[in-house]
Amino acid sequence: MAAHAKFRFRSSAELKAKAGELGLDLPFEDDISPLFEAVAVAGRTLPNRLAVLPMEGADAEASGAPSEMTLRRYRRLAAGGGGLVWFEATAVGPQGRSNPRQLMLTEGTVAAFSRLVEEVRAAAARAPEAKGRPLLILQLTHSGRFSKPEGTPRPAIVHRSPYLDPLHGLPPDFPLLTDTELETVRDDLVEAAELAAAAGFDGVDIKACHGYLLSELLAAHTRTGSRYGGTFEGRTRLLLETVRTIRRDDPGLLLTSRVSAADTVPFPYGFGMDPDSPATPRLEEPLALVSKLVEAGVGLLAYSLGIPYWKPQYGRPFDTPIPGGKTPDEHPLEGVARHLRVATEIQRAFPGVPVVGAGYTWLRRFFPHVAAAMVRAGRTAVVGLGRGALAYPDLAADLAGKGRLDSRKVCTTCSLCSLLLRQGGPSGCALRDAEVYRIS
Ligand SMILES: Cc1cc2nc3c(=O)[nH]c(=O)nc-3n(C[C@H](O)[C@H](O)[C@H](O)COP(=O)(O)O)c2cc1C
Repeated sequence: MAAHAKFRFRSSAELKAKAGELGLDLPFEDDISPLFEAVAVAGRTLPNRLAVLPMEGADAEASGAPSEMTLRRYRRLAAGGGGLVWFEATAVGPQGRSNPRQLMLTEGTVAAFSRLVEEVRAAAARAPEAKGRPLLILQLTHSGRFSKPEGTPRPAIVHRSPYLDPLHGLPPDFPLLTDTELETVRDDLVEAAELAAAAGFDGVDIKACHGYLLSELLAAHTRTGSRYGGTFEGRTRLLLETVRTIRRDDPGLLLTSRVSAADTVPFPYGFGMDPDSPATPRLEEPLALVSKLVEAGVGLLAYSLGIPYWKPQYGRPFDTPIPGGKTPDEHPLEGVARHLRVATEIQRAFPGVPVVGAGYTWLRRFFPHVAAAMVRAGRTAVVGLGRGALAYPDLAADLAGKGRLDSRKVCTTCSLCSLLLRQGGPSGCALRDAEVYRIS
């Protein structure tokens, strides 16, 4: 691994030279038109290849209903003209909230979610280069080990981890969630999917990444005496039961699951890690899981990497860690290239099911060229931007209208959005939207 360095490229030639020096595969295409070709997703049409990735804003009402700040955030994102808006991690019950201001979808809040969908559809229709209706997907979750429903940690764990338990000082006999408790979470996810359909979302994502409950369950090799742990079948059972039940109850709803392709916690406490080299990602099990998800009716694939509280650079390569965070022991371009490799492996294994890629934001104004090359080569169908979209919500419109991005509007990967989230929200771009989001 190469030493960490900040983004200092003044030209695409410099960027390509660095990739060459590090021996990385960074495809590049001058022509960005592949990003504006429509693509079929599970019987629907995505007007372009640009997606807004899910980003928790921690700005909901106490009830979990979207607030005025939530509505503003999504109106801006939708008005930017991306073909897919992937709404952030939304709790399906009070115990699994990541903070007291996390969105929560229940009978009591579903009407407010309908209003969110209506406002987002109206904003998207006003997008300057709108060529069709964006797909709206809601991510459903239980925060598991990282639950903080009242603002202080209330971990709900499914296995004991020598790597993650110390983050919360958990004693060796800290109780595990029982199978019955897990089945209640499954039922809450199924019910919330029904509510999401009623609110007007096109689809739901059953979140299984970043170390939250369903993601941690995939890694529960050491959970014994349970239907939900141990073997691959046991560890994937709850996710697959959830997906199959939703598919049975609502055959028309678009289904997806953002899965950690490698959570980077060493085997046998992590998922997607090599048993023979515990700290090395190995996609054999994640690909086997994706195959089962596709069989169960998932029509869109998305992945992520790492756990934000463990090795955040895997999920989101950055220049600056959050205050108190460690500077990663790799070059951010290595992190970007890892994302491209994982997206490619999944897309090549399942060429008929579109993959939403991630990890492009660090590339700033050059990302569209790498993204266009990925799309043109069939290495990913859709390109997702998380922090990049938060900083520059109208990036798709600028790209479509002007053919390039404005370097004064791009995300600088300063980690202030992550800091705001850690502080309990509201979270947004404290650099480009500083009148609304301030660090205290
Ligand atoms: C503040 C913040 C909030 C996030 N919230 C979510 C979330 O709710 N669900 C999710 O799957 N990923 C979440 N992510 C991860 C992003 O979706 C994305 O995968 C990551 O930022 C890498 O993409 P990027 O380089 O384009 O930012 C979040 C990331 C950040 C920085």
